[in-house]
Amino acid sequence: MNPISRIVVIGLGYVGLPLAIGLAKRYSVTGFDLDRGRVDELNSGTDRTGEIAAADLKSAKLTATTDPAAIVGADVYIITVPTPVDEANRPDLGAVTAASRTVGKAIRKGAIVVLESTVYPGVTEEIVGPEIAKASGLESGRDFFIGYSPERINPGDKTHTVARITKVVAGQTETVAKALGEMYGSLNGGNIFIARNIRTAEAAKVIENAQRDINIAFINEVTMIFNKMGLSIHDVLAAARTKWNFLPFTPGLVGGHCISVDPYYLAEAATRLRHHPEVILAGRRINDGMASYVAAQVARAIAVRKPGPADVLVLGLAFKENVPDLRNTKVIDVIREIESLGHRVDVHDPVVDPAESQHEYGQTVLGSMPSGKRYDAIILAVAHEAFVKLPDIGLANIGQPGAVVYDVKGLWREAKMPGGFLYLTL
Ligand SMILES: NC(=O)c1ccc[n+]([C@@H]2O[C@H](COP(=O)([O-])OP(=O)(O)OC[C@H]3O[C@@H](n4cnc5c(N)ncnc54)[C@H](O)[C@@H]3O)[C@@H](O)[C@H]2O)c1
Repeated sequence: MNPISRIVVIGLGYVGLPLAIGLAKRYSVTGFDLDRGRVDELNSGTDRTGEIAAADLKSAKLTATTDPAAIVGADVYIITVPTPVDEANRPDLGAVTAASRTVGKAIRKGAIVVLESTVYPGVTEEIVGPEIAKASGLESGRDFFIGYSPERINPGDKTHTVARITKVVAGQTETVAKALGEMYGSLNGGNIFIARNIRTAEAAKVIENAQRDINIAFINEVTMIFNKMGLSIHDVLAAARTKWNFLPFTPGLVGGHCISVDPYYLAEAATRLRHHPEVILAGRRINDGMASYVAAQVARAIAVRKPGPADVLVLGLAFKENVPDLRNTKVIDVIREIESLGHRVDVHDPVVDPAESQHEYGQTVLGSMPSGKRYDAIILAVAHEAFVKLPDIGLANIGQPGAVVYDVKGLWREAKMPGGFLYLTL
């Protein structure tokens, strides 16, 4: 095994970029990505994901490239490429396989390859290792070594950064795990947990996210029950949360690249072993159904106030607050359902890239608050910082008298609504 001095990070997205920049403080790091636009943007000092500030990006000793020749012969390769699901919610490991082949062509004897993408137990050993072996002609465990280290960062979260969270690490052998532990420990002052083996580390990551999904699904389910009882989930949670061991989850749309996807990886692995995952899939069903539920609630409230088609303003399109990330946003499903009922929808989000929205969803996004138009209904879909004070500073100017305000996040529960507005929360 080579001593670690040169590292290549494959995939420079939300996960790969902060990792590459952190490691570049101590090691010689090259970032490789297939997307030329992304590489050009990073080399010119911009990170559109908003994870790394321009000054930090410019001062980082990171070289980004699309050239496979530039990544030959590194000591460690770290793969941080997407792991989405296909239309049938089955794992799509195409990017992991392709990245493994890229590594296979560049790797030399003595190197270690670490997968960071979220997967089900077995992917590193059954797919990554063999793909590299095939492309390189080298033998896994003798000529090169594999490891897995799940990524836990959270888009937009400036508290739980790579420098501050415990990093779980696993290696093909104890020596590999120890070497990786030292490398990752340079990022966070040695805050490393060495997992028993690679599959255990893969399993740990996938249940971290499946557990969140299931907990949110439970809160979403009781939200629907309490709505029928005329109770507000937010009032119920405020009371229940005073118990020391009540888990503080809140209701909402569950989108994004992780929580709404990763449980399907575990479900697929279970199904292959002829175990039908009841709880995991029930959680997915409930959370996937929330967009329809919100749309139906809004439509019902509109119908009470105004017969016929209404003008609806949706505030926020990102999958979560204060990030430009549009991947798997469920707000788009809410919009499509409301439109299918004959209503007209405008969308305002000051954080996302309107061009990306147009490209991904064919959805026009207004970067600034529409002026001169008054809406019959306003849906607060994402709790962006920019919307917190809206009831005090402008909500009255964008709603028709008697407008419906549907607050998916409960952000404005304590705010004073303009007179005559009908305020509802999820
Ligand atoms: N986003 C998160 O906060 C987060 C947190 C924890 C774990 N994860 C996991 O980390 C992995 C990466 O997620 P992400 O959010 O960084 O994705 P991303 O889409 O932001 O970035 C992935 C990058 O990989 C590049 N890429 C795709 N295929 C490639 C290939 N074959 N070779 C080289 N580059 C390639 C893409 O162009 C893109 O720039 C996923 O498995 C995800 O589940 C993500």
